[in-house]
Amino acid sequence: MFERPKAGERAVLVHVDFKSGKSTADLDEFIELVISAGAVPVKTVRTSRIRPDPRFFIGAGKAAMLEAILRKNYVEVVLVNHELSPGQERNLEKLLACRVIDRTRLILDIFAQRARSFEGKLQVELAQLRHLSTRLVRGWTHLERQKGGIGLRGPGETQLESDRRMIGQRIKQINERLSGVHRQRQQSVRSRSRAMLSTVSIVGYTNAGKSTLFNRLTGSDNFTADQLFATLDTTLRRFNVAGEHPVLLSDTVGFIRDLPPELIAAFKATLEETKDAALLLHVVDCTAEARSDHVRQVQDVLERVGARNAPVIEVFNKIDLHDEIDVHVERGRDGYVTRVWVSANTGDGLNLLLEAIAERLNAFKVHKRITLPVSGGRLRSQLYSLGAVIDDTPLETGGWAIEVTLGSARWHTLIENVEFEVDTSDVVPESDGQNIGKIGSDTAIVETVRS
Ligand code: GTP
Repeated sequence: MFERPKAGERAVLVHVDFKSGKSTADLDEFIELVISAGAVPVKTVRTSRIRPDPRFFIGAGKAAMLEAILRKNYVEVVLVNHELSPGQERNLEKLLACRVIDRTRLILDIFAQRARSFEGKLQVELAQLRHLSTRLVRGWTHLERQKGGIGLRGPGETQLESDRRMIGQRIKQINERLSGVHRQRQQSVRSRSRAMLSTVSIVGYTNAGKSTLFNRLTGSDNFTADQLFATLDTTLRRFNVAGEHPVLLSDTVGFIRDLPPELIAAFKATLEETKDAALLLHVVDCTAEARSDHVRQVQDVLERVGARNAPVIEVFNKIDLHDEIDVHVERGRDGYVTRVWVSANTGDGLNLLLEAIAERLNAFKVHKRITLPVSGGRLRSQLYSLGAVIDDTPLETGGWAIEVTLGSARWHTLIENVEFEVDTSDVVPESDGQNIGKIGSDTAIVETVRS
C-alpha cells in the first residue's frame, strides 16, 4: 500500500536552503538517508528561498528546471528533503510525471524496511497509515495511484470513502494489537521492578554507535551497520555494574532531525521506557560535524516523550577517529560525571564509563532504620540479598529493627511492593551527609587518562 523508492532506483534529490539557515550537513544527511533507503542519487537540485512556494514548494521556475533534468536523465523518483503538503506533492507529480517522495515518507519507509519485531512493524505501519490518511483527498489518493499510476483522474467519492474506511479499520486493528503489546510491556516493567532491576537506556542520534556500545557492554552481537536506523526495536540485556545488582541495558531506536511526528507518536510507548530508566547514556558521534545539533535533536525527542529529567551521562564516541582526543571524563559542578569520551569500537574508555555508571547508580543512596513485623520476613531476606543490611536486631515483640543502605530507586521499588505497614526513619549521618561520589567543586573537572 505504501510507496517507496525501490532498491537501486535512480533518484534526483531536491534540497532548499531557507534563509532561516538549514545547513549543508542537512543535505549530507539526506543523501545518507536516500542511500539507506536503497535508492541511487544521480543528481541533486539545490536552491534557496525565503519561504516555500505554496504550489510547487521549490517555485515554478525551479520545478520547470527539474522537469528538464528528468527529461534528459533516466530518473525513476524525485526525493525532496522537506515535508511537502499533499497539494505540493500532487502538483509536482503532475508537472514532472514522476513519483515524488518527501522526507517524511522516506524516513517512514526506512523504518518500515528496518522493523523486525512484531511491535516495531505495527508501530511503523501505524505511522505510515496516519501519514497516508492526511493525504487522502478528493481527486488524488495514494491508494488510487498505487493501482493506476501517475496522472490518473481522481476516484469518485465512493472510492475515496472506501479507501478511508479501509485505512480507518486497519488503524483500529493495529491500535488494538498495540494496546495488547503495551499491556505486556507494562507487565514486564512491573516484573522488572519487582525483580529490583534498574534500567539504563542508551539513546542517541542515528549512527552514533549505540548498538556497538550496547554490544561491547553486554558482550552480545546484535546487528550494527554503517547505515541509518539499523536498530529499530528496543533490545534489553543484563549487565553488571560494580556495587549494584545486575542492571538492564536497553538499546533504543536512533533519533534524527525532524523525526516525523507520526513516528514519534508511534514509538512513544517504546521511547517512554526511557522515562523510567534509572540512567540514560546519550551516545554522541564526536566526529560528526553537526554533533551539537544532534545532541539538541535527541534532547528534543526526550522532552517530547517526557524523559527530559532522567539523569544522563553523555558518551562521546568514536575517539579512535580523532588523534588528538584521549579517553577522559568530564564532571559537572555537582561532581558527577557528565561526559565520558570513549571508543566503542576499540573498547577504550569503557572502564571509565562503567565506573561512571556505577557512581551514578550508587550516588542516590538512602540510609534508613526500619521496623519490620514478623510478616516482613521476605522483605528482610530481599534486603540481605541486596547486601543492604548494616544492622539487624530481633524485637521482643517479634519482627526486626534493621538499618539499611541502598539505592534510592531500589528502596522505593521495594517499599511500594510490600503489603504491610513498615515503620521507617532516615539515619542522619554523623558527617555532613554528602552524597557518595560528590566532589563539591564549583568548576567542571576534566580527568584525563592516557590510553
Ligand atoms: P542506528 O541503529 O542507526 O541508530 O545506529 P547506532 O547508533 O546503533 O550505530 P551503530 O552501533 O550501528 O554504529 C554505526 C556505525 O558506526 C557502524 O559502522 C559502527 O561500526 C561505527 N562505530 C560505532 N562505534 C564506533 C567507534 O567507536 N569508532 C569508530 N571508528 N566507528 C564506530
